[in-house]
Amino acid sequence: MKILVGNWKSNGNMSDKKKLFAAIERTKTDIKIILCLPYTLLCCNKSNKIAIGAQNISDYTNGAFTGDISGQMIHDTGAKYVLVGHSERRTYHHENNAIVKNKANLAVQNKLIPIICIGETLAEHQSNKTKPVIKKMLLNSIPDYGNFIIAYEPRWAIGSGKTPKQTEVAKIHQMIFDILKSIDKEKTPILFGGSINAKNITRFKNIPHVDGFMVGRASLKSETFLPIIKSMN
Ligand code: PGA
Repeated sequence: MKILVGNWKSNGNMSDKKKLFAAIERTKTDIKIILCLPYTLLCCNKSNKIAIGAQNISDYTNGAFTGDISGQMIHDTGAKYVLVGHSERRTYHHENNAIVKNKANLAVQNKLIPIICIGETLAEHQSNKTKPVIKKMLLNSIPDYGNFIIAYEPRWAIGSGKTPKQTEVAKIHQMIFDILKSIDKEKTPILFGGSINAKNITRFKNIPHVDGFMVGRASLKSETFLPIIKSMN
């Protein structure tokens, strides 16, 4: 089953959530939709069509860590997923692979499925280092056990309106699949993301081992999100 993850980042309020949920409820689809919402909107999901994810998880279990939201707390809201190692966390909060791996482990320990984000910078892309960078990020960011999802998002594609060539995406997804297979994790879904919209998704949706998409900006409103769902149907 194809997967579509919406990442709201630091956007959205209760009314935005109600509107988008209602619009998705009215839409016929068989794809798996996961909305990664701000912590303030995680609670009380009644939809059978939409699963909820958080966008970050504390490095710690419960305790004296003011301001942190632990895996147990996220699980308690009914959320089933959590993003770890999103490019913006890696850039603005200096999360390296070791931190991401620890968070992925904490997610699994708290019955959450981590959606582990990996992607090369523009400089790495331009100097042909994408493959070794992605390989290292992948092997060093995944949890020690349990299921997870991989989201390959070139860091230079996020929010920029730029996307890699079809052939580049195909090569990287094949490589990620091969690595996952070599560690008996070939059933792991591999998503692609970065400036995806209803128009450009057609270029990527039939690439082997692109099992779905992760969408930021276009997931905020039904006008831009529903056409993506329809195009994946
Ligand atoms: P974008 O964000 O679709 O707005 O580029 C993607 C992401 O950050 O996951």
